[in-house]
Amino acid sequence: MKIVLVVVLVAEKPTTKTTTTDMVQDLLLPDSILPHLQSCRFGRTIHHFLETGSTNDAARQLAEQGAPEGTLALAEEQTQGRGRLGRSWLSERGAGIYASILLRPVLKPRDAAVLTLVAAVAGSEAIEHACGLRADIKWPNDLLLSGRKCCGILSEMQAERDEIRYVIVGIGINVNHAAFHEELGQRATSLRIEGKVTCSRVAVLCEFLQRFELLYDELQQGNRAAVLQRWVNRSSFAFGKQVTVDLGSGKKVEGLTAGLSELGNLKVKLADGRVEQVMSGDIVAWR
Ligand code: BTN
Repeated sequence: MKIVLVVVLVAEKPTTKTTTTDMVQDLLLPDSILPHLQSCRFGRTIHHFLETGSTNDAARQLAEQGAPEGTLALAEEQTQGRGRLGRSWLSERGAGIYASILLRPVLKPRDAAVLTLVAAVAGSEAIEHACGLRADIKWPNDLLLSGRKCCGILSEMQAERDEIRYVIVGIGINVNHAAFHEELGQRATSLRIEGKVTCSRVAVLCEFLQRFELLYDELQQGNRAAVLQRWVNRSSFAFGKQVTVDLGSGKKVEGLTAGLSELGNLKVKLADGRVEQVMSGDIVAWR
C-alpha cells in the first residue's frame, strides 16, 4: 500500500520534491500551526475542518456563540467557498489555504473597508516571506502573480446602530494547486505554479496571521495613513494604471488610478479631468 502511494505521488508530481511525510506535516492542524505561530491573538483558537461549506459561515457561527477575537476557522476543503460579488471560490482539498478570522474591531462601519486592504497587505507580505514571491495587489484585495490571481479576500461585517459587532475576514490562497482547468487557468495561478516548488501552507498561514495582527493593531491605534501607505507600496494599481472598474448594475468607470482616499476608496482620474472615488467594484481591465 505504501509503495503504491509513493508511486502515485511521483507519477502525479514529477517536478516537485514533496514526500508523504511533508504532506502529513503540512496539514493545517492546530498542532502543526501553534508551534510556529508568533501572533498573540490571531489563530490562537483554531477550529479545523476536513470539509465545510464555507469557513466564513463557520466563523460567523463561532462569532454568534461569543468566540474571542482572532478565532480562526480553517478547512482542508470547502464545498461552497464564496468569493466577492456573488462568485464561488474553488477550494481543492489540501491544496490551498481556506481560512476565516473573526475580528471585533473598535471601528465605525465606514472604516471597515480598510480592514480588507490590510488583509491584502498581510497576504502579500506573507507570500513574499514564506515563498519568495512578490504578489501585486489589485484593488481592493486580489493578489496577483504574473497578472493572475493567487489569493482572494472576502470580508463580511455584522453591524448594529453604527457599531461593528464583528467582521469575518476570509482568505483563500492558491498554494499548491498543480494546475487550473482551462478557462480558470487564464485568470488563476498558485504559488507552486509560479515558484515551481511546493510551498508550506503552515508557513504561509503563520506569516499571514502574524502580519495581519500587527497591521490590524496599528490600524486600531489610529495609524490608518501608515497602513494604507503599505498597501500603496505593494500595489502597481495605486497610481497611473489605466483601469476599467465594474461598479455593478451595468455601470463602469474608466480612467487612470490616482491613489487611495483615507477610507481606502480607489481614486480614478477620468478623461475629463474629474477624479471619481470608487468605494466598491471590480477592476475588470487594466494596462
Ligand atoms: C474573492 O476574491 O472573490 C474572495 C475569495 C475569498 C475566498 C475565501 S476562502 C476562505 C473564505 N471562505 C469563503 O467561503 N470564502 C473565503
